[in-house]
Amino acid sequence: MDVMKPMIEEAEKDLLHTYNRYQIVLDHGDGVYLYDANGKKYLDFCAGIAVFALGYNNREYNDALKAQIDKLLHTSNYFYNEPAIRAAHLLKEVSGMDRVFFTNSGAESIEGALKAAIKYAYTKDGGQHHEIIAMEHSFHGRTYGALSVTGNAHYREAFGTMPCDVKFATFNDLDSVKALVSEQTAGIILEPVQGEGGLTPATFEFLEGCRKICDDAGCLLILDEVQCGMGRTGSWYAWQRYGVKPDIMATAKALGCGVPVGAFLLTEEVAQHSLVPGDHGTTYGGNPFATVAVAKVLELYRKDHIIEHVTKITPYFEEKLDGIVAKYDCVAERRGAGLMQGLYFDRPVGALITDMMDHGLITINAGSNILRFVPPLIITKENIDEMISILDPAIERFSGSPR
Ligand SMILES: Cc1ncc(COP(=O)(O)O)c(C=O)c1O
Repeated sequence: MDVMKPMIEEAEKDLLHTYNRYQIVLDHGDGVYLYDANGKKYLDFCAGIAVFALGYNNREYNDALKAQIDKLLHTSNYFYNEPAIRAAHLLKEVSGMDRVFFTNSGAESIEGALKAAIKYAYTKDGGQHHEIIAMEHSFHGRTYGALSVTGNAHYREAFGTMPCDVKFATFNDLDSVKALVSEQTAGIILEPVQGEGGLTPATFEFLEGCRKICDDAGCLLILDEVQCGMGRTGSWYAWQRYGVKPDIMATAKALGCGVPVGAFLLTEEVAQHSLVPGDHGTTYGGNPFATVAVAKVLELYRKDHIIEHVTKITPYFEEKLDGIVAKYDCVAERRGAGLMQGLYFDRPVGALITDMMDHGLITINAGSNILRFVPPLIITKENIDEMISILDPAIERFSGSPR
């Protein structure tokens, strides 16, 4: 019996239609597998869009959350709470940044990061620096500030004047950034590996060059690690593999592994000259329920050697995806870093994704022609083999034939 259909009909009557959802009601998860309400099993190479790094139903994580529920869920930021203190301490350790502000999402982390950068400029020069340089094809979230630095005009088009003064440069083209830097520049924001924009890693020269531009111009480098952070590319934060440290950094997604939480982090220099009491706040941000999740996630990453695992398994994942590129004419290239990979097709991949879902594999797109893989970070070689055993025949059905 299909129990999903009536639920979906109900949902379509009640929920605002801002997503074209797959016709699936997910019910529960275990490890790297999800189960729908009819009991069908799916191998998950999407992980709730790069969120469920530790996989579903991790016992230690669940127990930590359950214990906190019975203790204290929320305090407001008028008070301290122990999980937030622990989470902030651990987050500082793994990131190498100095100050933490907890938020409820990636977009909110970007909002805070932008406010901190603009306030820093205001503190330093009375507000002459107020422009932000962002990248074409970037994605930073759907709230107004985050939207204003998102390099996809279509997302901004209907929403009028944006709150930030933003100029867009070309990702990985240092000259295009240099051409935009002026007296007014407060900061440069970018993703070290662009996610929605096509799984494109920044070149070392580009990231290092942006750092130098900021140092020379006296403005701030803001790195959005919402998708590429938390071990996804083989280091806690992607910038650490480049050795190019930001002044402000945004994180979210896998930070809570399912609990909605994010953070923006600052160097001490920026913290001392930017946001002060009255400048920024949130009711829920950093509450004990969210931060017990953060602390447990960071502890489990360390205990289970998640970063080392990503580094170790990445070459196998890349090799298997490269095999697909070599086999099919319709797949032009693979792009990405670590367990954040994309296959570039010569046509829209929507039908392919749906077909693979029918065959028990969950993936997502990035733009219309790119098939994106952001699996739980605990995947094994066997999981990769299983994924390829569904992907390969699906592409054959989709494209007609191999190369
Ligand atoms: C790089 C990046 N920044 C920011 C965001 C926004 O995060 P959230 O959806 O949690 O608001 C996303 C979401 O996909 C993202 O990929």
